[in-house]
Amino acid sequence: MSNTFYITTPIYYVNDKPHIGHAYTTILADVLARFHRNLGYDTFFLTGLDEHGQKVQQAAAESNVGPQRHCDEMAPQFIELWEELHISNDDFIRTTEPRHKQVVQEFLQQVFDKGDIYQDEYKGLYSVSEERFITEKEAESGQFHDIKKLQEKNYFFKMKDYQGQLIEYIEEHETFIQPEHRKNEILGFLRQPLSDLCISRPKSRLNWGIELPFDQDYVTYVWFDALINYVTATGYGTDDSSFKKWWPANYHLIGKDILTAHAVYWPTMLLSAGLPLPKTIFAHGWWLSGESKMSKSVGNVINPLDLIEEYGVDPVRYYLMREMVLGQDANFTMDSFIKRYNSDLANDFGNLLNRISTLIHKNYDGIIPQSRELTLDEKVIKDAAGKLVSEIDGKIKNMKINEAIEDIMQFIRRINKYMEEQAPWKLVKENKDAAGRILYTAGESLRIGASLLSPVMPNRTSILLEALNTRESTEWGGLKSGSKIRDHQPLFPRIQV
Ligand code: ME8
Ligand code: MG
Repeated sequence: MSNTFYITTPIYYVNDKPHIGHAYTTILADVLARFHRNLGYDTFFLTGLDEHGQKVQQAAAESNVGPQRHCDEMAPQFIELWEELHISNDDFIRTTEPRHKQVVQEFLQQVFDKGDIYQDEYKGLYSVSEERFITEKEAESGQFHDIKKLQEKNYFFKMKDYQGQLIEYIEEHETFIQPEHRKNEILGFLRQPLSDLCISRPKSRLNWGIELPFDQDYVTYVWFDALINYVTATGYGTDDSSFKKWWPANYHLIGKDILTAHAVYWPTMLLSAGLPLPKTIFAHGWWLSGESKMSKSVGNVINPLDLIEEYGVDPVRYYLMREMVLGQDANFTMDSFIKRYNSDLANDFGNLLNRISTLIHKNYDGIIPQSRELTLDEKVIKDAAGKLVSEIDGKIKNMKINEAIEDIMQFIRRINKYMEEQAPWKLVKENKDAAGRILYTAGESLRIGASLLSPVMPNRTSILLEALNTRESTEWGGLKSGSKIRDHQPLFPRIQV
């Protein structure tokens, strides 16, 4: 079994600053990368920017700067946001980098040499905002408001030739497109005859792109360029051992808006180039605001920076991971954010640390008491902790992030209940050893809960572990009797409404 884990996010367009939707996919990838690192996988986590094409050229023109300068000004906004959000990416790719341009040209040449690219005159309808040719039927659907008639010579990729092979591949590889309903959507789409893919734009119309290696009058269609980033970053064409180590990717995480490009264009491109297909393309749903998708064109986006400034990074990460069932849409409201924060983080999680540390300070001079011989009540908890650890592994591997988090929080609630039932604050007056055993058990359970939550909330859980003078691990016994606990700020101060 391979011990590597390669995970990617989409590369985001630099036509505008990042919003909560971009932050979501990137945090999700980060959480999965951190979980896998904790499990001992050699992990490569890639994110980056999609800098070519018409949208970016237009945005640059609107701000009266050249496209490269526009990209250079936008890139730090993403990089800095990812730093603020504690994103642990191993690489950051920008499609205007020489390393990428070179790989795109080599890829194109390879597909061309194979005979999979041809030139043809095209006459038809073109959607300016979608940057692609559309069919009569699509034009009639009313989804496009910016249709032009175009007649142009262009280069086409013989995507059609790979239709049968792709269908077969999808059917034979259960986990290739996830969740299941997205796989069915793609198989449905593939029941219609596939057309070939127009992969060039004449420079007379658009010049912000990578030049075709076999015709200087054209640049590469932005999607053909962008998808290749996933192999560029692994060292394809430049560092063979690195490429072999990481490719095929374990996960391409994407939003459902870009499923066709990832589940149809990309695999057929790879088949033509003779490369293995990614193990899983996973499409999550949308963050909605009311009924509509949060998007820059609708103008209903939440700025992640405002949220973090007000409530901190980890609560935002927690909310996004806890609230979305992967594969479905979710509604972002401030009301549910505050409820979630106050109930899970302030009342359950933060409060447990407070109770334990206050009691240890007051009754044991701040020294973690001996665990002693566990009674039946504690053995039950210890077993539950062990069971929780193995269940979380399975849930994460099955992309049930929200359920994994809920399981951990249920365990935390259970420990709060154990504290209430045992009432060590009363017991300590008659039997200090027994009360100490209870505080040790609760503290150790909290330590394991925090260790499991660390991929979601790396910062606050490390404050918690620091307060308990201990380290992250999921094996029972990590809390050290006799060591001194440390002062700490309230972990999650309640939000007053
Ligand atoms: O499509 N809810 O870039 P993009 C959830 N450059 N996720 C959302 C979201 C929302 N409301 N809005 C955006 C592109 N996203 C291309 C990708 S990849 C080779 C090229 C996230 O800036 C989600 O991951 O439009 C979505 O797929 C991505 O941002 C689109 O980002
Ligand atoms: Mg988009």
